[in-house]
Amino acid sequence: MRIATFLSFTVAAAATQAAAKNATQDPFEQWDGPKAGDVRGPCPFLNTFANHGFLPRSGKYITEKDLANGLFNAVHFDANISQFLFDFAVSTNPQPNSTWFSLDHLSRHNVLEHDASLSRVDAFLGHADVFNQQAFDETRSHWGDIVNVESGTTAILARMKTCKATDPNYSLSDLGEAFILGETAAFISILGDAKSITVDKKLVEYLFQNERLPTKLGWKRPGTPFTTDILLENLGKVQVEYEKRLNATSPGKRSGEYAGRMIHGSTKLIY
Ligand code: HEM
Ligand SMILES: *[C@@H]1O[C@H](CO)[C@@H](O)[C@H](O)[C@H]1NC(C)=O
Ligand SMILES: *[C@@H]1O[C@H](CO)[C@@H](O)[C@H](O)[C@H]1NC(C)=O
Ligand SMILES: *[C@@H]1O[C@H](CO)[C@@H](O)[C@H](O)[C@H]1NC(C)=O
Ligand SMILES: *[C@@H]1O[C@H](CO)[C@@H](O)[C@H](O)[C@H]1NC(C)=O
Ligand SMILES: *[C@@H]1O[C@H](CO)[C@@H](O)[C@H](O)[C@H]1NC(C)=O
Repeated sequence: MRIATFLSFTVAAAATQAAAKNATQDPFEQWDGPKAGDVRGPCPFLNTFANHGFLPRSGKYITEKDLANGLFNAVHFDANISQFLFDFAVSTNPQPNSTWFSLDHLSRHNVLEHDASLSRVDAFLGHADVFNQQAFDETRSHWGDIVNVESGTTAILARMKTCKATDPNYSLSDLGEAFILGETAAFISILGDAKSITVDKKLVEYLFQNERLPTKLGWKRPGTPFTTDILLENLGKVQVEYEKRLNATSPGKRSGEYAGRMIHGSTKLIY
């Protein structure tokens, strides 16, 4: 073998090794499910971030700084929205005035966790911290190839109808209803396009079913920051569609200021 060829072989091998090492250090490529003693919760996205190490892999003792860094690095959230969501999250820690929460705290029913989830059964029927394929199959059957405000709302209303019919203890608070609308606005905006409010269904299915970021399918961290204003604006657009459909069947029944509820955090049950 000529020396030049040998050298280029060695260099190529070293580069391959370095690339492999880099890939294992890249948190978007590095994924590991929960180990014994780790906790996960009802939010497919926070579970995903813990599985990539953007949040503590244990799922426990998440501080505001952990959340802000994790959400910034994973999906380009600004500090304001992270603080906004952290304040909700700590409210689920049974210990008052705590400075941290664990992902399983989020499962406490009717604090933030609500019935009629897209991928979980109702609290009366099972645990909110585990994915349920049957519930999710119903949801995605309504999405079409593209999830947008219209198909997202169709799926929400279908899950509400099924849950009301099958859960004798079905309930929903003002805040729970606002969260439902916000969750759909959020996953479309983060995995798809926050301006047109559209996302390829395949990316959403991949994340929910694998609790992994869909980089293999071409998804990339958003290039522009995601803010509280964008969340509330897109929540408002889902709300208009949702109210339009409700008003068509039961006029005047709902007249929610959902963004306001989200900020004031009312947990009064409305159903
Ligand atoms: C990128 C950021 C996030 C996105 C896109 C997101 C999206 C979602 C979605 C789509 C669901 C609904 C799952 C279902 O219905 O089956 C959900 C559930 C939930 N999320 Fe998140 N989430 C994010 C971050 C957070 C944060 C920071 C919190 C902290 C308060 C949080 C709290 C929850 C809770 C409590 C639930 C359970 C609601 C239920 O009962 O279904 N999420 N999230
Ligand atoms: C590995 O990552 C470093 C920066 O983190 C970069 O400078 C280097 O070129 C990468 N090496 C390879 C082979 O990708
Ligand atoms: C986020 O910013 C808005 C003003 O743009 C402010 O009213 C609000 O209190 C901030 N929220 C948090 C949690 O910092
Ligand atoms: C929590 O903090 C509030 C004020 O921030 C205080 O009024 C309340 O007593 C505290 N509760 C506990 C259990 O420390
Ligand atoms: C049953 O319904 C009541 C309110 O109607 C609610 O407070 C309670 O958390 C529900 N329990 C379950 C397990 O759904
Ligand atoms: C639905 O009806 C309520 C009450 O009449 C009204 O305030 C609200 O604007 C309506 N929403 C839509 C989208 O038409």
